[in-house]
Amino acid sequence: MSVQAPWIRALGSEELARLRAPPRRAACVEVGAPARKVLLAACGDEVLALDARCAHRGGPLEQGDIEDVAGNDGSAVAPTIRCPWHGRRYCLRTGREVSADGAAVGSWPAQRVHTTEARPDGLYVRLSGAGGEGARPCPSDEFAQVPSAEARGGARLPIAMERSALQALLLAEAAAEDTGAAAGAARADGGPEFVPDEFLF
Ligand code: FES
Repeated sequence: MSVQAPWIRALGSEELARLRAPPRRAACVEVGAPARKVLLAACGDEVLALDARCAHRGGPLEQGDIEDVAGNDGSAVAPTIRCPWHGRRYCLRTGREVSADGAAVGSWPAQRVHTTEARPDGLYVRLSGAGGEGARPCPSDEFAQVPSAEARGGARLPIAMERSALQALLLAEAAAEDTGAAAGAARADGGPEFVPDEFLF
């Protein structure tokens, strides 16, 4: 009998609003116990979720570009994410690898996709995979699972320190914006131009 995994809150409402703010963005969060690295990508009204580590060699998909690709069979345009390491492109809806012209590569999803639901208090994710729907092995399984602290040979972090990686990124982004504002003031004074790092795409 198929057992559905529980819904897990991955983002608070403010974090969700930041993720949805233009331009289109993707972020990596750790969900569940044991934790899994999940990519959340805001596409219109939807937030799509799939494993955040590339099935090829584990590249960080949250650092890739979100691009729309039309299917070569005339199917509708689908949002994809392109791995920053070697350029493989994955459909954000299906997890299947696709070529630049929309042709499917392989007959089975390379990236495991997960279900999301926006609620008043934030974004919830239901993981697929072991113990849940879609229990069939997926190539991205090898990279998406976060090793336990014990497996890494270290002590477990306090829960407060295990907060979503997205929150840390948003704080860093806010700091970068502050720095950018300061740089803008410097430019007004004839100082050097400063380009803040992009943490979310
Ligand atoms: S690690 Fe993503 S394409 Fe190679």
